[in-house]
Amino acid sequence: MKKLLLELKDASLAAIAQADSVDALENLRVRYLGKKGELTAILKQMGALSERERPVIGQLANELRERLTGAIEARRAALSVKLLEARLRAEKIDVTIPGKPVDIGKKHPLSTVLDEVEEIFADMGFTIAEGPEIEYADYNFTKLNHGEGHPARDRQDTFYFTDDDKILLRTQTSPVQVRVMETQAPPIRVISPGRVYRKDEVDATHSPMFHQIEGLVIDKGITMGDLKGTLNTLLRKLYGERAVTRFRPHHFPFTEPSCEVDVQCFECGGRGCRVCKGEGWIEILGAGMVHPRVLEGCGIDSTAYSGFAFGVGLERLTMRRFDISDLRLIFENDVRFLNQF
Ligand code: PHE
Repeated sequence: MKKLLLELKDASLAAIAQADSVDALENLRVRYLGKKGELTAILKQMGALSERERPVIGQLANELRERLTGAIEARRAALSVKLLEARLRAEKIDVTIPGKPVDIGKKHPLSTVLDEVEEIFADMGFTIAEGPEIEYADYNFTKLNHGEGHPARDRQDTFYFTDDDKILLRTQTSPVQVRVMETQAPPIRVISPGRVYRKDEVDATHSPMFHQIEGLVIDKGITMGDLKGTLNTLLRKLYGERAVTRFRPHHFPFTEPSCEVDVQCFECGGRGCRVCKGEGWIEILGAGMVHPRVLEGCGIDSTAYSGFAFGVGLERLTMRRFDISDLRLIFENDVRFLNQF
């Protein structure tokens, strides 16, 4: 029996020393020390031994059990160190590898131009007013002197929410004029940028959603001269001191007199070309002196106060500013396009 134990000792210690994984080690533990293990099997035969042999063999067996337990633990510790080392090697980070560039994005060209416009007006003492994109027909039309049957109210052009045509997606930023005049006493000097919506088919110059920047000035003694000076300042700051402007008579229901403002074509200097479609001029905005009926409707005394308003198309400004030939590019958000600005 002593011989058996010594053989087991040699074999088991060798096996443990060679175990190359924690799983293999556990299998060995079961194989030698488990309930049905080899050492246990030997111990079970101790009853057959003589009184004299039993304590000697018993001690030998106990020593072997301790030896094996210790060897397994030691091997397990060694294996886990090796495992950790292997993992550290595999997950090693090379801090000298150049980093991947982080794409932080850029300002959209519409935002660039809007920021410029806001800054120009801030320098002239304007503040920014906001209004809702979902608007009452009352504010979008009626209070702006578009009577009930006015063609601009047509369902063909306007996104209405309700069958009674009372709520809509605003078709212009001009309702913000009314909201400001109803809540603020003159003097007023605000701009109001925002989205507007019209039932237009998408093409190179039309989109059912676009942006306008509304402007409103109300004070004592405001004249068409103030309107011209303010808008010329805007256009020269945007397009350079030599930009040539033209104020043309026009009609808007809520301004009287009304005008449209053109900038002479930069491409051809006014001779007419592809960019200005042979006109020599590019229309930039609509404007006019706020109609007394609109002032009175907002509770402002039109005999004491006067003012002007204007509405600029932000996409049009942006396309001119960056030489963009197709409006659709502005909304597609293709980064290859946007990264050019
Ligand atoms: N709201 C007008 C439009 O969308 C533009 C405008 C604004 C005209 C203010 C005059 C005064 O066409």
